[in-house]
Amino acid sequence: TLSSPLVAGVLTVSDSCFAGNKSDKSGDILEDLIRSSLPQFGVVIRVLVPDEQNLISSQLKNWCDKDKLDLVITTGGTGLTSRDVTPDATRSVLHRELPHLSTVMLIEGLKHTPYAALSRQICGNRGKTLVLNFPGSSSAVKECFSAVLPIIGHSINLLN
Ligand code: MTE
Repeated sequence: TLSSPLVAGVLTVSDSCFAGNKSDKSGDILEDLIRSSLPQFGVVIRVLVPDEQNLISSQLKNWCDKDKLDLVITTGGTGLTSRDVTPDATRSVLHRELPHLSTVMLIEGLKHTPYAALSRQICGNRGKTLVLNFPGSSSAVKECFSAVLPIIGHSINLLN
């Protein structure tokens, strides 16, 4: 059974935001989108980590196992530079992958940029928590969110 209100976590993964060299615009956008489009989420928690696999996976495990969040969306670190490790950290903690959620986001992204193909973002669940990787750019966050918005509620119902 679902607790009410639902709790979402936004995990920003970015060396430059963590160092204070860039503001966390994508995290802000994602929080606004959840609050405005998913009113069943009464609480949105934010955490910012650098692109370090162990810090990302520990934060995900804490949110899924200890805090029992309903939804976690990460932003950033899904690309192909050597520092981009978010999908690898996520895969190491997921119980099951939901590869077609990533496909839905890819299909939407390709309508806007061929570079959508460069994200290695993955999705899945750990326990009852739905975990989604989004790329780091503002436009990617908006595009990916609109792509999975119709699926999030039903996914979380099924996990519970
Ligand atoms: N997906 C969407 N929908 N829109 C985008 O603008 N940018 C791409 C891709 N996915 C993009 C997108 C680009 S340019 C890169 S490099 C990869 O996501 C990885 O981004 P990240 O390393 O910030 O996660």
